[in-house]
Amino acid sequence: MRAKILARGGAVAAALSLCSGLLILASTSASAAPACTVDYRINQWDTGFTADVTLKNLGDAISEGWTLEWDFVGNQKVTNGWSATYTQSGQHVSAKNPEWTPGLPTGGSASFGFNASYSGSNTAPTSFTLNGTVCNGGPTTTTTTTTTTTGTTTTTTTTTTTGTTTTTTTGNPGEHVANPYSGAKGYLNPDYVANVNSLADSTGGTLGTAMRKVAQNSTAVWMDRIGAITSGRGLTGHLDEAVRQASGGTPVVIQVVIYDLPNRDCAALASNGELQVGQNGLARYKTEYIDPIAAILANSKYRDLRIVAIVEPDSLPNLVTNLGKSKCAEASSSGAYVQGIQYALNKLAAIPNVYNYLDIAHSGWLGWSSNMGPAVQLIANTVKGTIKGVNSVDGFVSNLANYTPTDEVNLPDPTYNVGGQPLQAAPYYQYNPHFDEADYSTEMRARFVSAGFSSGIGMLIDTSRNGWGGANRPSGAGGSSAEAYVNSGRIDRRLHRGNWCNQSGAGIGARPTAAPRTGFDAYVWIKPPGESDGIATKTDGPNEEGKQHDPMCDPSYRGDNQANGGNLTGALANAPHAGSWFPAGFTALVQNAYPAL
Ligand code: GLC
Repeated sequence: MRAKILARGGAVAAALSLCSGLLILASTSASAAPACTVDYRINQWDTGFTADVTLKNLGDAISEGWTLEWDFVGNQKVTNGWSATYTQSGQHVSAKNPEWTPGLPTGGSASFGFNASYSGSNTAPTSFTLNGTVCNGGPTTTTTTTTTTTGTTTTTTTTTTTGTTTTTTTGNPGEHVANPYSGAKGYLNPDYVANVNSLADSTGGTLGTAMRKVAQNSTAVWMDRIGAITSGRGLTGHLDEAVRQASGGTPVVIQVVIYDLPNRDCAALASNGELQVGQNGLARYKTEYIDPIAAILANSKYRDLRIVAIVEPDSLPNLVTNLGKSKCAEASSSGAYVQGIQYALNKLAAIPNVYNYLDIAHSGWLGWSSNMGPAVQLIANTVKGTIKGVNSVDGFVSNLANYTPTDEVNLPDPTYNVGGQPLQAAPYYQYNPHFDEADYSTEMRARFVSAGFSSGIGMLIDTSRNGWGGANRPSGAGGSSAEAYVNSGRIDRRLHRGNWCNQSGAGIGARPTAAPRTGFDAYVWIKPPGESDGIATKTDGPNEEGKQHDPMCDPSYRGDNQANGGNLTGALANAPHAGSWFPAGFTALVQNAYPAL
């Protein structure tokens, strides 16, 4: 495939306003004009763009608020923004300091950004004013344009600094390190950041401040349908933005979830997808989904990124325990899951700077040894059937989009005896000896190494929603029976470990951390906190993405015996479709964060 460099007309203004407006000032030093520079960077696609703006104050300290103003040269329209309040009238835009931070010292900077729509060309503004005075440092503008035409992705980057224009393209393959998270900084998805920060702005107060901290943590980008590759920001838009976020030689690690197998989410309804085994789904998965993703990731301009691919949540685990469900049985007997995953691993493992982590569910699902054995066998055989064999993966991820704690700190060994019974005999654990993700994942890792995987494999735990803080978090355990001891001491406050949808009482867990313990590559946030697990109320069949209502997302439903022992689901009311932003859910997760935000 040949990458063509397209020059897009009018991307950057040819000349920038450099003069200060030659103000004649009164001679009191207190009224010296503010001088400033503006770094205005945009990442654009056909119909929209993201702007990241850094304003630097070179003049007197500002204590009572700042406003940066400019005029668009075209029909650009701000749709949402973060870390500033935007007003637009025609082409004129003002960005005002957020209420909580009115000051800007001499030499200090403020960074903020926005998403906008446009059509035609997207010329950068030529001049900015700070509190009414022209920024005499002159703006620096950078425009990155991404064009994708059937498999060929073209990116042009143009930087204009005080009238000088340079166009940059890159080449050469990337490298593969032992742990992609070590020494790297995590990608901040601007779309997620915008959701969080706008809710934080409207919430205000200490809760708003806590919410804002969430936006500083890296979350994964979900390629949850073919359309996600190109629509909106698209995969190239995210990768371009990740490249832009790299600075000072620190690489950026960006996590991309590969999630579109035919018969997806075969044991539930909430995250069903667009492809079906019986409708040529496997072939479409390969050519319309994996091939374009791999082509984009292989582009040499992304070689310095560390791209983590999180491969197919829940898929192989469903083949271990849910073959009683017809969609899972079909996914198994047709070979669609195994072959789809092998195809994905082959394509992705061929790209040096891509790191594959395969999903292994969580301790409350596969933690019994009667499930762990078959799970390790199925997963190991699947990976061994790829071109690079066991080396197709860098590790495994547990607790993906789930709520199981990393450490059940109040519960000792599962064989610890209370009132004549081991803790694992308590109804909550049903003889599953793995109470938490650290234990489960450590044991799974050992089993994979025994099955022939490298001892260099690293585990990931999705800690985005397994915090369980707040008033109901127990600080110890007690009681005279194993049941009482477990129920008083467990961090996991779910009514049953099979509950998985929008759990009430759950909180944000450990922040993403590289190499948190031996054998673990990172704690990660794969599920972006605040995105729903599934819609709470009944729908008339699936939506255009295949999403629909699953009763496990209905707070008034008593589950069936197999799913959750006939308990209530513990789901929050009024949640929207899986993947949609759910402000009330996010608020609860922030309030129950552990450690607190
Ligand atoms: C769910 C959804 C998916 C979404 C993801 C992250 O599993 O099905 O569409 O992108 O969660 O929120």
